[in-house]
Amino acid sequence: MKIAIIVHSATGNTYSVAEKLQQKLIGLGHEADLVRLEPVFDDKNKSKVRFDQIPETDNYDAFVFGGPVNGFSISAALAAFLKQVKSLQNKQVACMVTQKFSNPMFGGNHTIKQIKQLAEAKGAQVVQTGVVNWDNSRRQQMIDDLVEKISSAFTK
Ligand SMILES: Cc1cc2nc3c(=O)[nH]c(=O)nc-3n(C[C@H](O)[C@H](O)[C@H](O)COP(=O)(O)O)c2cc1C
Repeated sequence: MKIAIIVHSATGNTYSVAEKLQQKLIGLGHEADLVRLEPVFDDKNKSKVRFDQIPETDNYDAFVFGGPVNGFSISAALAAFLKQVKSLQNKQVACMVTQKFSNPMFGGNHTIKQIKQLAEAKGAQVVQTGVVNWDNSRRQQMIDDLVEKISSAFTK
């Protein structure tokens, strides 16, 4: 399959997980492109975001959308992107987030729900989700588990 991994990553945590996922997907025989969103924030209103360049989403069979948890919620940049992305009708989608706190109850689960809802509003079929808790002592295992479950979720 041709898969686009599209992430917002302010400090690089989500991006580093996305890189591992990309390598795994390529190893499984998929074509996997990794795109990092480059939001431009309004000086006066930090929740206002625009993009000088919107990643191309035509010609992909499936997507992974990811980003950080910000204030127990989806980041403004990922939300803005998902609101303006073209139709995801009949596309398989996986969602992933990273967060500082060690338990997904502190924002991770809620953020996944928000990403899922925005993708489904565009017609996506959400096939898998994953959270990495950066301060959890099992972080590396969580990354490996997320890569494993998301990479095996896409079906032809
Ligand atoms: C403004 C802001 C709000 C945040 N809010 C939360 C939060 O509610 N819960 C949490 O666990 N981590 C929170 N974090 C931490 C980030 O989610 C975490 O460091 C994440 O891994 C960063 O990913 P990134 O490097 O891909 O941007 C917050 C970070 C920032 C900058």
